[in-house]
Amino acid sequence: MTPTVTRTSGRAALVAGEFHFSAEDFRRIAAVLHGDSGIHLQEAKAPLVYSRLAKRLRALGLESFRDYCELVESGAGAAERRSMLTALTTNVTRFFREPHHFDALSRDQLPALAAAARSGARVRLWSAGCSTGQEPYSMAMSVLDAIPDAPDRNVKILATDIDPAVVETGREGVYSEEALQGIPERYRKWLERAGPGQWRMAGPLRSIIAFRELNLFSGWPFTGKFDAIFCRNVAIYFETSAQARLWTRFAERLQPDGRLYVGHSERVSGHAFESCGLTAYRLARGVPA
Ligand SMILES: C[S@@+](CC[C@H](N)C(=O)[O-])C[C@H]1O[C@@H](n2cnc3c(N)ncnc32)[C@H](O)[C@@H]1O
Repeated sequence: MTPTVTRTSGRAALVAGEFHFSAEDFRRIAAVLHGDSGIHLQEAKAPLVYSRLAKRLRALGLESFRDYCELVESGAGAAERRSMLTALTTNVTRFFREPHHFDALSRDQLPALAAAARSGARVRLWSAGCSTGQEPYSMAMSVLDAIPDAPDRNVKILATDIDPAVVETGREGVYSEEALQGIPERYRKWLERAGPGQWRMAGPLRSIIAFRELNLFSGWPFTGKFDAIFCRNVAIYFETSAQARLWTRFAERLQPDGRLYVGHSERVSGHAFESCGLTAYRLARGVPA
């Protein structure tokens, strides 16, 4: 049964259920999550937080959310904070989600990038907030379609996410039959049977993607600029000020002709970028690269 919101302040129960969960508990959990990830949880999400974390309380043998808060706020709670992050992040994704971005990549960027790759230049794309990998594999299919010898060229896709569990799923690259919906027929040659109803992303796709755990609000342990950054349906969970910081950092990491693609409900504000299509952005003229 879905837990229901009852009260919104103090130690009174905020959500009715097996464990006592107060507004104060919610605020403490939201503060830990915000500090670790930049994700801004609204109180309307309390029932969801309750149901996802109740499983953690049971697994840990804890009796109340107050005990859980004490654990995740303590030095000894670092491992549990990672489990909490995995439980609370929204990882919804699919292959070729918002397909106009892959059309734009193939039409507006890949012809020039293919020529550059053939002449030995470095080509870099980034899926920032890659979840379980469907986004970077969709990028890799588009890239291989335009640059069939990409695995032998200096062409790479960086795929990062804060949640170690989803990064591992992406690295494994095995998906159920139902998850493959959205992959154009001509790209299915890069799928290999991995078992009943299971498909593995083929070697050429895997060889051009590097999966890494990365918090977008930490230091970025790589140098060099990207030709395309896909950061879609990620910033929606951050406050406007955190989004603005992220856009500025992306601008610093984009090649002069690079593109930033964001999710359907996200908008890039500030002076660094100008729109160049539906939720697609390039560096504004006059902004130093
Ligand atoms: C809804 S998924 C989007 C997946 C994919 N980009 C897409 O559009 O289909 C959002 C992802 O952002 C990740 N995320 C949230 N906060 C993050 C942060 N601070 N740093 C890196 N990734 C983060 C989550 O773990 C989650 O996998």
